[in-house]
Amino acid sequence: MLSQDDVIEISEDSNWSYRPDRQTAARMIRSLESGKVLYFPHLAFALKEPERRFLSPGCSDGKAKNVSYDPRNGSIQGTSCKDQDSNDLAAMISRFAAQARALIESLFPHYTPHLEQARTSYRPMPVQRRFRSVRKDDSRLHVDAFASRPNQGKRILRVFTNVNPDGQPRVWNIGEPFEIFVPKYYGRIAPQWPGSAWLLERLGITKGKRSFYDHIMLQLHDRGKMDDAYQQNADKITFAFPPGSTWLMFSDRVLHAALSGQYLLEQTFNLPVSAMQDERCSPLRILEELYQRELA
Ligand code: SIN
Ligand code: FE
Repeated sequence: MLSQDDVIEISEDSNWSYRPDRQTAARMIRSLESGKVLYFPHLAFALKEPERRFLSPGCSDGKAKNVSYDPRNGSIQGTSCKDQDSNDLAAMISRFAAQARALIESLFPHYTPHLEQARTSYRPMPVQRRFRSVRKDDSRLHVDAFASRPNQGKRILRVFTNVNPDGQPRVWNIGEPFEIFVPKYYGRIAPQWPGSAWLLERLGITKGKRSFYDHIMLQLHDRGKMDDAYQQNADKITFAFPPGSTWLMFSDRVLHAALSGQYLLEQTFNLPVSAMQDERCSPLRILEELYQRELA
């Protein structure tokens, strides 16, 4: 049976540019890479008073599941906000993006030269209302893998902050270790048809080529989610992240599921496995060991 200490490591830090001492830093990177969630119960994102108007599902355009911001060019999507409201919302998310980056850079200076900051999201909708199909249902345990965005083995590092104003926690399930999950589906991974990666890219379904690694990760994501018995019986712990707290993890390795909550900020980073302290901890190397071949 999993215990909370197996999956979560707590840090009392309350500062986005916190630099842990060497010993703590070494422990944190080991925990992160080996598949734990790093949890900062007192690390809050401060909204400015006028930004409180964005604590409403009305910010969403009703079609996209999240408001999505691109820190590389400042564009914002998925919101019904217009003009000044849209600029102000983008400024709020952008401030979070900068703080999330500062946090990763100060905790893991090792990663900084290789860190790619991807999209930032703001999730103003209640978790329960977001899913449209089993594959898209993030209340089922899964590791992150994206059908349209192959990442060729690069890690997915995510920072989350609960900004709920009514005391409502973000409640997650956190699952068993990746090395225990994978063998359960290993024999059931469908083959990747020759030419399919080329075709998907050609048709614009994927942005870039879907490697065999991406294919396997997507299969693990889908098969796990579609397996009712697994969802019901898999070893997991339920954890409530209160408002004013922050947590981060490699979401391509940590099995997770969002059960409830509303108003979350999230920043995604990509990191080449070569930038890790121990790349054997990456899903890419774990799967390559299993398949005995290069996968990306
Ligand atoms: C997920 O990444 O699967 C969902 C996380 C959340 O929205 O709480
Ligand atoms: Fe996820």
